[in-house]
Amino acid sequence: MVKIDLFKMGQYKSAIIGLGQVGLMYDFDLKRKTPSSHTLAYQIHPRIELVAATDNRIEQVKYLQQIAPRVEFYQNIYDMLKQHHVDIVSICTPPNHHLAAIEAILRFSSPRLIFCEKPVVSHLDEVPQLYSLIKNKPIIFLPNLSRRWSTGMRRVRECIMQDTYGALQKIHARYTRGIFNTGSHLFDIIRWFAGSIEQVQVVEKVPTSSDQEGEPSYTFVFTTEHKKVSGFAEAFKDEQYYLFELDLYFERGKIDIRLSGDSVIYYGIDEHPLFSGFNNLKLQKNETGLLAESTLQQAVDHIIRVLDGIEQPACTLEDGIYPLLVANALVCSYQNNGSKEKVEGINNE
Ligand SMILES: NC(=O)c1ccc[n+]([C@@H]2O[C@H](COP(=O)([O-])OP(=O)(O)OC[C@H]3O[C@@H](n4cnc5c(N)ncnc54)[C@H](O)[C@@H]3O)[C@@H](O)[C@H]2O)c1
Repeated sequence: MVKIDLFKMGQYKSAIIGLGQVGLMYDFDLKRKTPSSHTLAYQIHPRIELVAATDNRIEQVKYLQQIAPRVEFYQNIYDMLKQHHVDIVSICTPPNHHLAAIEAILRFSSPRLIFCEKPVVSHLDEVPQLYSLIKNKPIIFLPNLSRRWSTGMRRVRECIMQDTYGALQKIHARYTRGIFNTGSHLFDIIRWFAGSIEQVQVVEKVPTSSDQEGEPSYTFVFTTEHKKVSGFAEAFKDEQYYLFELDLYFERGKIDIRLSGDSVIYYGIDEHPLFSGFNNLKLQKNETGLLAESTLQQAVDHIIRVLDGIEQPACTLEDGIYPLLVANALVCSYQNNGSKEKVEGINNE
């Protein structure tokens, strides 16, 4: 077997803006067994040198030092960007700060890649400015739509692309926590599996903890491009339990995604055991523990392959913006008493 010395392949320097949950603190949660923060995912990667991180809360430095003792901490984003020339910058601040972070990065630094947490901005109003900052610039903008890095989810997509169970016809989704937060992942994965959502219609508003952050949660029906797939997404109260589940119905089978993608159950069809002349769904395989793999580590591996020139980015600026278009159509539908609303693109000229 040929052994590859990763260090000899050259390292990329990285920096992080925002050391809250996904930037750093998730790796202090004992229930999370795999690297779940940008800090740890960079810190342990042999091809990455994490050189600096910033947060406006000084108390974050003591946590940073526990995971990455040699990384320089800055309380001011501008000081960090002026001081360090890095290849990759992660943006892990709240969405309403992303635009300011991108502006600062482009003004004071020249990384090759920005790895930006979702939602890429907090509101559709900010999208034209985001476009004008990023479009036609020699920089790769990679949104962290994290389901795309999961090998379990990639296998589901391969089944769809290869028509393993025939055409995908219907999607039932169940989610908690808001159309901007969880919505980013939900609308992206639906698009990745079934094409862009073309039309939405809100059935009801469901109270969740996201309401406190000004973010509604709706139960709604949708159709995807050319009405190929129809769907029903039901919102649940997260105070009762957390949910992120999808059921995908095909001509000749079904795939159930459970526990936020940790488990995937595949069904084919077989003769019905009780009723003559009918088929029945038959369990084929049950994959569990899929999130034992760190999706952030997978993302960092992908970033390296992109910077090495081996892969194209799996996620683009447009992919990052798309969930906001769906969220906007849902808000319009709710405000118009459950009208059918087209998911409109935006003019970015
Ligand atoms: N991809 C995922 O699965 C996933 C999971 C969790 C969070 N997120 C996203 O990541 C982003 C951050 O979420 P979070 O839960 O970590 O939030 P958080 O509030 O826990 O952390 C944000 C951090 O940014 C810091 N900050 C705010 N303004 C700053 C500034 N101007 N300069 C430097 N630091 C600043 C805050 O002090 C805080 O420590 C959000 O966009 C969120 O939606 C994504």
